[in-house]
Amino acid sequence: MRSARSSRTPPRRRSRRPPTSPASGRARPAPSPSPSSDGSDPMDTTTTPLVELSGVSKRFGGTQALDGVDLVLRAGAVHALVGENGAGKSTLGKIVAGLYAPDSGELRVDGEAVGRWDPVRAQRSGVVMIAQELSLVDDLTVEENVFLGVEASTAGILHRRNGERFETLRALADFELDAKARVGDLRIADQQKVEIMRALARDARVIVMDEPTSSLTAHETERLHRLVVQLREQGRSVVYVSHFLDAVLEVADTVTIMRDGVRVRTGAAASETKASMVQAMLGRELSVTFPDRRPAADPEVEPVLVADRIATATGVEEASLVVRPGEIVGLLGLVGSGRSEIARALAGADPLTAGTLTFRGTTRTRWNTRRAIAEGLVMVPEDRHAQGLVLQRSVRENISLAFLDRFATAGVIRRSAERTEATALAEALSMRPPRIGLEVGGLSGGNQQKALLAKWLVGDPSFVILDEPTRGVDIGAKATIYQLVADLADRGVGVLLISSEHEEVLALSSRAYTVSNGRIAGEVDPAVFGVGDLLAHLFSVEQEIGAIA
Ligand SMILES: Nc1ncnc2c1ncn2[C@@H]1O[C@H](COP(=O)(O)OP(=O)(O)OP(=O)(O)O)[C@@H](O)[C@H]1O
Ligand SMILES: [Mg+2]
Repeated sequence: MRSARSSRTPPRRRSRRPPTSPASGRARPAPSPSPSSDGSDPMDTTTTPLVELSGVSKRFGGTQALDGVDLVLRAGAVHALVGENGAGKSTLGKIVAGLYAPDSGELRVDGEAVGRWDPVRAQRSGVVMIAQELSLVDDLTVEENVFLGVEASTAGILHRRNGERFETLRALADFELDAKARVGDLRIADQQKVEIMRALARDARVIVMDEPTSSLTAHETERLHRLVVQLREQGRSVVYVSHFLDAVLEVADTVTIMRDGVRVRTGAAASETKASMVQAMLGRELSVTFPDRRPAADPEVEPVLVADRIATATGVEEASLVVRPGEIVGLLGLVGSGRSEIARALAGADPLTAGTLTFRGTTRTRWNTRRAIAEGLVMVPEDRHAQGLVLQRSVRENISLAFLDRFATAGVIRRSAERTEATALAEALSMRPPRIGLEVGGLSGGNQQKALLAKWLVGDPSFVILDEPTRGVDIGAKATIYQLVADLADRGVGVLLISSEHEEVLALSSRAYTVSNGRIAGEVDPAVFGVGDLLAHLFSVEQEIGAIA
């Protein structure tokens, strides 16, 4: 790894540190009726921008990821980037943070044109990015990851005072995290918190947050938003990339809307609505509607899957549930309640230590993911990298990897069958670009999610477990995924659905179980629950179980 230390001094004279007094926070700007045409913050022309991009373009092979984009980032402002999957948001963020070099266009920092720009120089100038795809070192602890590459640590040996610094940062972010835990053992939500703390540790003036809340709970998201407000009050600049448009309206001062690598407009967040942003992002009106709810199946119908008091070493205890063909069954619970662990046990990813699992009428004793897939039970996992996709392979290869048998005759893969089916799914999921020969690693985050769904749906399964199927997916594609889930059920597939967007589970599910502490706590009728009722219910379930334990 390259050391962050260098004899080279930053080319600027101004102090790198932002003013830290909260008193320096400015009032929120008044709404501006007319968006600016040059990408600048239309409300504020007095301060020198911290970072300014003009006419930036970037191409990857045949894809024009960015085409002549302008962006102005000012101190004490939160600038949101919104747009469909593949619109170029992450690419733009990475150019700001020095991770990608633009093909053309200009980058200015503190008013001065920069020639060479890379992550080390960017960090030295106080510009950092929290990447959409986490970039932590699994074998290091939380604390080591947070301070990795920060100047106080030398050649990987942590400065002793890091313990104190960690506590200060943890308190600032108001996150619960164990400094000594190995990062590879953390759940994704906690890994995301480590990423956020890494950026704080760098005392950055400009922080690009690429979908920072995609794995966080509602409560953690709220804390993150408080942190963003604090950072703004300290005079820092936050770039906030998100598909959660409500959150964008809540935290951003300025919004830049992107479409197909082009900036559609930049304007005051106060002058946007969810509908106005969607219209600009997609170039058409769209209100996300859920497909009609599937009724619960007749209890007489033989279930496709029955779990009877199953337990695992990962914390599942006496969990019992039933799913019948054509039903969408939701697992409702708070992050950390054990939903994913139950899912993994059903899919054969973690062995059972007690209880029985009956799938398609047969009690399964030696159950593992290979068998499960061969028998028609598939899981679209929560973590698309660790458990789902091979980044160096093409979309087509990823799709057929799990079901080679299906595409092989006497051991030879029939490429044309593979290609036809992969193309059909890529189109159904509106993957962009819909070229299945592309490496998955080069796809935007949301399009990787679509590839992951495609990969598991191609096998014609009889039971599908979807763990966070819409994470990082844009609003247009979400609607497609909802329809896809409903179509699966219409075909008689049993579906188990997990999502931190409780609204999705409540709207799509025929029935739902509540999960707490690795147990199935009860069954609720999703048709009668609002999200508010549900959260109250889940919290009270947690408390009851806590009281018993
Ligand atoms: N490293 C890369 N190699 C090849 N193509 C890339 C690479 N990075 C981005 N692209 C392409 O550039 C385009 C823009 O991608 P980008 O990741 O910026 O989109 P995004 O707006 O962040 O989307 P999402 O909402 O899905 O995260 C996409 O078509 C993507 O496939
Ligand atoms: Mg992205």
